[in-house]
Amino acid sequence: MVDVAVLASGRGSNLQALCQAQADHRLGPARVRLVLSDQEDARALQIARDEGIEALHIDPAGLDREAYDARVVAALDERGIDLVVLAGFLRILSPRFVQAYRHRIINIHPALLPSFPGLDGPRQALDHGVRVTGATTHFVDEEVDHGPIILQSVVPVLPDDTDEVLGERILATEHELLVESVRLFVEGRLSVSGRKVEIKGERSYPRTPLFVPEVAT
Ligand code: GRF
Repeated sequence: MVDVAVLASGRGSNLQALCQAQADHRLGPARVRLVLSDQEDARALQIARDEGIEALHIDPAGLDREAYDARVVAALDERGIDLVVLAGFLRILSPRFVQAYRHRIINIHPALLPSFPGLDGPRQALDHGVRVTGATTHFVDEEVDHGPIILQSVVPVLPDDTDEVLGERILATEHELLVESVRLFVEGRLSVSGRKVEIKGERSYPRTPLFVPEVAT
């Protein structure tokens, strides 16, 4: 079994998707063992308790980034965690944390990286006027929303979209993307070479065509 820790600061819908996939045997040999949050009242912690998963709050008050991350890494090490998933964890990781779990930390981001890193991916996409956006899973490196890309989903931007509506459409794809990324990891099918992630068994052609907007003639 591959032991997974999910780090989340908020509502935890991606965590919920992972739990559901585990229950449905769609997550390969992965077991979500720990949910860790910097926010005591994060819904993600409640989801963990409901699922019978250990829920751990580590309070950042009075700790600098290094000191906080040292506690998090100690908690992960103590439990023998193999894979860390950042699912809406609103903290930047210190280089020491990244190095300790190099290529074993997956983040999910609501945009097609390298476009629109940071907060408010859907808002940034709307403001920029792109016609497609999406979601990205990637291994975490020392820069924010930057490491080697695992999977991406493509989501159209529609004329009447608000950031909320677009965010919901992206989120629906995030859940599948994250489950699939974790499954590929725990099945040992991901290898990293520089910026590139190789997926064992990847098809050489896409299963679905890229989105092309329809224009009235
Ligand atoms: C998601 O949009 C994720 O891409 C971003 O934070 C949000 C977390 O949502 N990093 P949830 O807490 O999993 O519902």
